[in-house]
Amino acid sequence: MARDLTQLELLQELAQVAEENVNRHISMAKEWHPHDYVPWDEGRNFAAMGGDDWDIEQSQLDEVARAAMITNLLTEDNLPSYHREIAENFSMDHAWGTWVGRWTAEENRHGIVMRDYLVVTRAVDPVELERFRMEHMTNGYSSLPDGGAAGLLHSVSYVTFQELATRVSHRNTGKACNEPIADKMLQRIAADENLHMIFYRNICGAALDLAPDQTLRSINEVIQNFQMPGAGMPNFRRNGVLMAKHGIYDLRQHLEEVVMPVLRKWNIFDRTDFTADGEKTREDLAKFLEKLEGQAVKFEEQRDRMLAREAAKREQQAS
Ligand SMILES: [Fe+2]
Ligand SMILES: [Fe+2]
Repeated sequence: MARDLTQLELLQELAQVAEENVNRHISMAKEWHPHDYVPWDEGRNFAAMGGDDWDIEQSQLDEVARAAMITNLLTEDNLPSYHREIAENFSMDHAWGTWVGRWTAEENRHGIVMRDYLVVTRAVDPVELERFRMEHMTNGYSSLPDGGAAGLLHSVSYVTFQELATRVSHRNTGKACNEPIADKMLQRIAADENLHMIFYRNICGAALDLAPDQTLRSINEVIQNFQMPGAGMPNFRRNGVLMAKHGIYDLRQHLEEVVMPVLRKWNIFDRTDFTADGEKTREDLAKFLEKLEGQAVKFEEQRDRMLAREAAKREQQAS
């Protein structure tokens, strides 16, 4: 079995790829401004300045869109935790450091625009939103349950899937809002998340070529323990269920729009550079994916039954 590369060796060996991809990212990324995505003329004062405080009647978004918006915004709000994880694992040296800074600045824009939009349009309760932000950020986030440093490979495979997952979630939240400004704003954010995903996916792909067994071990671990970063935020269970029930982020999308496209891109199931040890990890991963497929089918059946029951109830009430 080949010896595992140390964190320092990985960072050094992959520094060139990091530099190429930072340059690629900067050449692809388009400048945009949060203020262009907020309907400022809808804004007015709250009670502290002589206006009215928030009331649910003021919101144009339905319950699902509100839950998804809050979940996605709180996720963006937790940026200091993700920054810490990325900075600890990528280091702040050379291209790695450039990326950490640039990525953090881009992510911050997502929280800014979403909050401005939600407060100006009175789409959600700003008091509740602020309390949730305080609670969620105070708890912080770590991709490892014990909060320890995850290592470069774990970190880079986690963020590959996570960026793609947030892309899907933002995109579908935009559609669920049924409102062209929100949709455009979330499309803009989703396009950023896609570029971020490509950066991490390329680094992880290069790591696979460099240390196939070792990288696959991290990928397998991340897939088997994947949790959206929203896990642990106030109301996450309730909001997560609502979002899954209404197709904003569910197991089928997780499997088919997030996990599988990335695994295909990395050529995981056709690679010939794993040792016997890597082969074992790959079999373990394949078994897990089969299990996930079974769970997705079961979830869809349950959801269909639940939605049918709810529709029947509505019809009964209407007649
Ligand atoms: Fe983001
Ligand atoms: Fe992102």
